[in-house]
Amino acid sequence: MHSPTPPQQVHIDLGDRSYPILIASSLLDNAATFANLPTASSALIVSNTTVAPLYAQRLHTALQSRYKNVHLVTLPDGEEYKTWETLNLIFDALLENTCDRKTVLFALGGGVVGDMTGFAAASYMRGVPFVQIPTTLLSQVDSSVGGKTGINHPHGKNMIGAFYQPLAVVCDLDTLKTLPDRELSAGLAEVIKYGPIADDSFLDWIEANMDRLLARDVDALTFAVKRSCEIKAWVVAQDERESGLRAILNFGHTFGHAIEAGMGYGQWLHGEAVGCGMVMAAELSRQLELVDAHFVTRLRTLVQRAGLPVIGPRLRPDDNAGRYLELMRVDKKSEAGEIRFVVIDGAAHAAVRGAEDAVVRRVIDACCA
Ligand code: NAD
Ligand code: GLY
Repeated sequence: MHSPTPPQQVHIDLGDRSYPILIASSLLDNAATFANLPTASSALIVSNTTVAPLYAQRLHTALQSRYKNVHLVTLPDGEEYKTWETLNLIFDALLENTCDRKTVLFALGGGVVGDMTGFAAASYMRGVPFVQIPTTLLSQVDSSVGGKTGINHPHGKNMIGAFYQPLAVVCDLDTLKTLPDRELSAGLAEVIKYGPIADDSFLDWIEANMDRLLARDVDALTFAVKRSCEIKAWVVAQDERESGLRAILNFGHTFGHAIEAGMGYGQWLHGEAVGCGMVMAAELSRQLELVDAHFVTRLRTLVQRAGLPVIGPRLRPDDNAGRYLELMRVDKKSEAGEIRFVVIDGAAHAAVRGAEDAVVRRVIDACCA
């Protein structure tokens, strides 16, 4: 099976760690997709119990012409398994199959598989190459790109990890056909994110094309994945390790991570929490007089049209805002206990700043059930 048209490509420019993002149908089982990867005697496909039965055999066949030994490790599925224990299953597979320093890891799955495979690749024998093959919309537009890898800790999300770039990202749009609707919506949250932080005309385009995206129109999805990856590549190329600009990619994530941790990982999908978190961050921006009420309504409407929740959950019956604040203080952007928020402060422009607890409490009270 060959892709009928050449893949769309986005280049991520990081000097000697630069890599391509390929976007097209029928990439996964096309040996030519992997023709430029370094040679090695073995490869390890890392997937999970949902994605492996759908796609691992096809990838295995495509890789067999390049690698003498292609192994597979199948992880349990779910955000709640993004842990040390699950990470160890990857190391077990690498060691049991006597994988060496040249072994290439292939992350076949959504962001959970991608983040854990990347972290395993960063640390196995102090670093082996890996390739991202994202199979959710969220992972195609965000998590597979930019080299953030890691696992969760009960006290906070993605708290343990490494920056480690893949050799390539392969976005096979066909895989989105089997994605549950709820997961498609979750991915749309991260697509929407790129509008307010970086590209007003993309925000207009998403509004005009939301119905096509929800109907999984391939041309609309191709454009959404490509434009999202271009914006992410532009940000990451300027600030790979998040010393400044890259933090804007966390628009909605400070509130969102509190929702995910506070509800228990896996209850709210990451994209659902980010969607709702963006509405809360927009409301914070309004309360700080950086945007007007129209902007908040516009964003809330779009998030809702994507099929995402727009009302935050109560994390405890009393002093709900206090619980959010507690959880948000362990966010990686916090400095000396001060929570830092990504706010929108102009058309397609974001900034990172603190806010008084009283203001944040007002936002949480206004946005939660
Ligand atoms: P996920 O990996 O849990 O995948 C969602 C669900 O869809 C899972 O049940 C998965 O098995 C299933 N699935 C995946 N592909 C499928 C397919 N093609 N068909 C049918 N089912 C499929 O979740 P996600 O939304 O992809 O990723 C969320 C994770 O990504 C979170 O852990 C988040 O922290 C992380 N993330 C990381 C970054 C980063 O920069 N590294 C950015 C954003 C999010
Ligand atoms: N998803 C946020 C980042 O990659 O920085």
